[in-house]
Amino acid sequence: MSFQAQIRDVEDKDPEFVDSEFEMSRRDFKEIAATLHAESGIYIAESKTALVYSRLAKRLRALGLASFRDYCNLIAGEDGREERQRMIAALTTNVTAFFREPHHFEHLKHNVAPQLIAAAQRGERVRLWSSACSSGEEPYSIALTLLSLAPNLANFDVKILATDIDPNVVAVGERGLYSERALAGAPANLRERWFRSARGADGETLSAADELRRLVVFRQLNLIGPWPMKGLFHAIFCRNVVIYFDQPTQAKLWGRFASALAPGGVLYIGHSERLSGPAVAAFRSEGVTTYRLSEGGRR
Ligand SMILES: C[S@@+](CC[C@H](N)C(=O)[O-])C[C@H]1O[C@@H](n2cnc3c(N)ncnc32)[C@H](O)[C@@H]1O
Repeated sequence: MSFQAQIRDVEDKDPEFVDSEFEMSRRDFKEIAATLHAESGIYIAESKTALVYSRLAKRLRALGLASFRDYCNLIAGEDGREERQRMIAALTTNVTAFFREPHHFEHLKHNVAPQLIAAAQRGERVRLWSSACSSGEEPYSIALTLLSLAPNLANFDVKILATDIDPNVVAVGERGLYSERALAGAPANLRERWFRSARGADGETLSAADELRRLVVFRQLNLIGPWPMKGLFHAIFCRNVVIYFDQPTQAKLWGRFASALAPGGVLYIGHSERLSGPAVAAFRSEGVTTYRLSEGGRR
C-alpha cells in the first residue's frame, strides 16, 4: 500500500471503532448518515458515531454480518429496502408521553376543540393530524382532550390521523395497550373513563376503550415523502421530530403543513423547534410553539 493510501486508510477509521466488535470506518458512518438523510430527512452528526454504532451493531448481529462495510453494501442495494426501514427504526428516537407539553392540550381544549366539536355536531367533517405520533400517546391525548368535552364524539365524523415513519411504533399505537406508568401523565378522570384493565404480554396493562380507538387512525407515513391525504386538517401536531431534520427540510415541511391546514387551522410544534422559511408569514403565534394559519394564509 502506498504511503498516501495508508494515511487515507487511517484517517478513514474512527480510532474508537477500529478495535470494537465490528469495524466501522468514517466512510461507513458517512454512507449510513447519507442513507438515513435521504430516506427520512434525519441529519446525524459525526459526534453521534457511538450511538449509531451501538444501535446498528444489533442489526449486524441479527443479520450475521461481519462488518459495517457489509452492512453499507446491503443497505445500498435494491434488496436492502427492508433493512433501510429497519435502520431508520433503529436510529430514530421514539420518546413520547401522554399529555407531553400540556399547554398544547390546554390550548386545544379551550381555543380549538369547542369550535370543532360544534362543527362535527352540525354534521361537518373534522380532521386532526398527529404527524410523528410515535407509539400513540400523542394522538390518544388529542382524542382524550376532545372526549373530555364531548364524550359521544365517536358518533360524528371526527378522526385523528396518527402517522409515523417507524412501523413498529405505529403498531404499538394501534394496539392501544399502555402500562399504568405510561398513563400516569393522563388526567385520572380521563384514564378511568377511557381505558379498561387488560392483561398484556408484560402483565397488567390498560387498554384504550373502543370509543377512544375509533377516533384515531394509525398509518405509516414518511413526512418527507408524498402525503396521500386529500382533505385539509383543522389542527396538526408536529412535535419533537423536525429537530432531527436539517434547515431546508424543516422550512419545506412548514410550507407543506401550511398547505395541509384549513384556514384558521392550528399547528403545534415541539418546545425546541421554530418555524422557518417562507411559511412563517402564513402563521401567527397564539402561545408557546402554537401557530394559527392566518385567514388566506394557505400557500
Ligand atoms: C421524539 S418522537 C416524538 C413523538 C411525539 N410527537 C411527541 O412529541 O411526543 C419522534 C418521532 O418522529 C418519528 N420520525 C422521524 N423521522 C420521521 C419522518 N421522516 N417521518 C415521520 N416520522 C418521523 C420517529 O419515528 C419518532 O417516533
